[in-house]
Amino acid sequence: MNELVSTATQQGVAVIQIDNPPVNALTAGLPEALSNAVRLADRDAAVRALVVICAGRTFIAGADIHELERAAWDETAPLPDLHPLLSTIENCSKPVVMAVHGTALGGGVEVAMAGHFRIAVADARLGLPETNLGIIPGAEGTQRLPRLVGIEKAVEIVVSGKPIGASDALRAGLVDRVVDGNSEGGLRQRAVEFALEMAERESPVLRTQDRHDRLGTPEAIGAYLAAGRELARKTRRHQTAPLAAIDAIEAAATLPFEEGCARERELSVQCVRSEQCKALIHGFFAERAVSRVPDVPKEMTGSQIGRVAIIGAGTMGGGIAMACANAGLDVVLTDATRAALDRGLSTISRNYDASIKRGRLTADAVEQRLARIEGHVGYDGVETADLVIEAVFESLAVKQQVFTEIDAIVKADAVMATNTSTLDIDAIASATSRPASVVGLHFFSPANVMRLVEIVRGSATGPKIIATALALAKRLGKVGVVVGNGPGFVGNRMMFPYMYEAQFLVEDGATPEQVDRVLTDWGMAMGIFAVDDLGGLDVAWRVRQELRQFEDPALRKPLMSERLCELGRFGQKTGSGWYRYDGGRTPISDPEVLQLLETVSREAGIQRRPFSPEEILDRTIFSLINEGARVLEQGFAQRAADIDVIYTSGYGFPAYRGGPMFFADRVGLRTVCDRVNELHRAFGARWEPAPLLTALAARSATFRDYDAERAAART
Ligand code: CAA
Repeated sequence: MNELVSTATQQGVAVIQIDNPPVNALTAGLPEALSNAVRLADRDAAVRALVVICAGRTFIAGADIHELERAAWDETAPLPDLHPLLSTIENCSKPVVMAVHGTALGGGVEVAMAGHFRIAVADARLGLPETNLGIIPGAEGTQRLPRLVGIEKAVEIVVSGKPIGASDALRAGLVDRVVDGNSEGGLRQRAVEFALEMAERESPVLRTQDRHDRLGTPEAIGAYLAAGRELARKTRRHQTAPLAAIDAIEAAATLPFEEGCARERELSVQCVRSEQCKALIHGFFAERAVSRVPDVPKEMTGSQIGRVAIIGAGTMGGGIAMACANAGLDVVLTDATRAALDRGLSTISRNYDASIKRGRLTADAVEQRLARIEGHVGYDGVETADLVIEAVFESLAVKQQVFTEIDAIVKADAVMATNTSTLDIDAIASATSRPASVVGLHFFSPANVMRLVEIVRGSATGPKIIATALALAKRLGKVGVVVGNGPGFVGNRMMFPYMYEAQFLVEDGATPEQVDRVLTDWGMAMGIFAVDDLGGLDVAWRVRQELRQFEDPALRKPLMSERLCELGRFGQKTGSGWYRYDGGRTPISDPEVLQLLETVSREAGIQRRPFSPEEILDRTIFSLINEGARVLEQGFAQRAADIDVIYTSGYGFPAYRGGPMFFADRVGLRTVCDRVNELHRAFGARWEPAPLLTALAARSATFRDYDAERAAART
């Protein structure tokens, strides 16, 4: 028998174990081996029941996504077909118990649902995250899940793509028993006992496909499906897979099982071959590739971080404190004055209260998290921290002073991090006696919510510090991307030309609301002007002052945003910026801004003209791509895919478009380059094509090719 699957008999139960590290994905060969093992046990007269269990850290984490990727890119490649395996399991004449630990995901849950019973350890998680990859649960999952948990819950699980805990799964009907995995004999023993119990019963086993009691009445089904579609349109804007998954679930409720499966397969093929699927799978692997840094071997674990000191209890410091406390770390939060500290601590309490009100956290969980955060005035408590994160005012002089002061008191092996969003890490590190221990940790606001952390490597930052920062990001549930130490690093540097271009568009005749609408219709989470209002026009203006030596002298001045700052319109915080905000957070078009734009255009001798959505998109998105290419060739990002991760996880770029560099590949670099050249001829220096873009376009290559070539050259 294939070593991926082995069988041992225990008390008359065939315990079939899958062992396919790291996550027991259903790689080619495994479904066949599992099928064989089930068939053999079914035929074996000494076997009364079967248990399917996994070795290693998790139950099956789904189909092999590499195989799905091949099917997405190659129309002739077959889709993984689990049907023979699922029907072998479901038609087994003896009870089959699926024993779940770790994360049972996608095809893993679909295999589990084909079993007759499911037992899970208390900390197991089960989910159907296929919609996150632009596909639907295509291994009969949309047909069996509603039969176990009902239409309403099935829609919720599939549209959200989020796994649920074992106790939720028990309540929903997805698992039948939850056990303590640490009890004697563990999950394996409990599963064998459960299987024997089921074998004792008189009644024959019930196949999931034959269950109809949870499917509900036609009226109720209609309402759940309509609500699900509404939810999908709202929470998974422009995404096709969640809606296709609901269509397939509808088939479960309205068609016999076999016909429902056929409908599911049809929808599944459409989704797998879609652009969105290609982009989302690219994103999945890109997120995993970011932790590969050439001089930081995978085995390098970094330092143990148990206690984190955060200097500065403002918005960023408070958010970082929450992110750390949420991950079970002990936190020391400090500020220079009692008043500032108290303000910070009460904001944290308020934010946690809001999470309780929204039902995201229980009062107990919040109490535990708050108990992990210790507030201090000055640097008390910082001396015992394993990691110090400075989150004070964005000024080089202020940050240097803080680093000199903390250098004198922190432990010899402590990691010293700055949360600067744009400043020079080397200049900050030079204020200490140990630049090798200094790293940038650029969190995004709100830091307890946003997934991205740019890990900024200074010229002296050691590999172990990078390994520590990567492990920390993972522990916080974030994606840490290592970037070089240049002005604005990667994300913000690319934002500069994007923002400038948007400003030139409105000075030339577009309106802020038109530009924002075109961008959000295209898929950006927010329009650029709404983003500027949220971050604060004064902040952007101050950053430009800090970075003015890097600015292109040919840029038209003063920028409209500076005119708005002169009027005290700093954005949401002052109630007006590019828009006005009547006490709320909703941007409202402001005639005063439109009037000012007309004045600015007149003074600059510009004849205002209308803009098409296409022109707005080219000038904004292509400016991101062109700067991204420059960032890449200058080595500030390791891979084009890293830039994609930065933009999809930190800047609201639609994940289903893969990120700016992936999007450029799909448009075709030759087309992008031609358009950039046209804009260069029209607008001059600011549109000079990045040499890498020109070079790749000339040889009909893509940014993905570039990444692959560089990876191959490294090995
Ligand atoms: N297929 C192939 N490789 C996979 C994989 C999968 N389903 N899941 C994880 N991996 C790989 C990762 O790429 C990574 O490889 P490298 O070390 O080479 O980078 C390795 O396994 C470990 O993964 P993580 O770093 O993500 O490990 P983790 O412990 O942080 O998380 C996990 C583990 C929760 C299982 C996470 O990997 C995950 O969410 N995986 C995806 C699960 C998923 O989406 N399943 C559905 C697949 S689609 C499907 O099943 C279709 C269907 O209907 C049949």
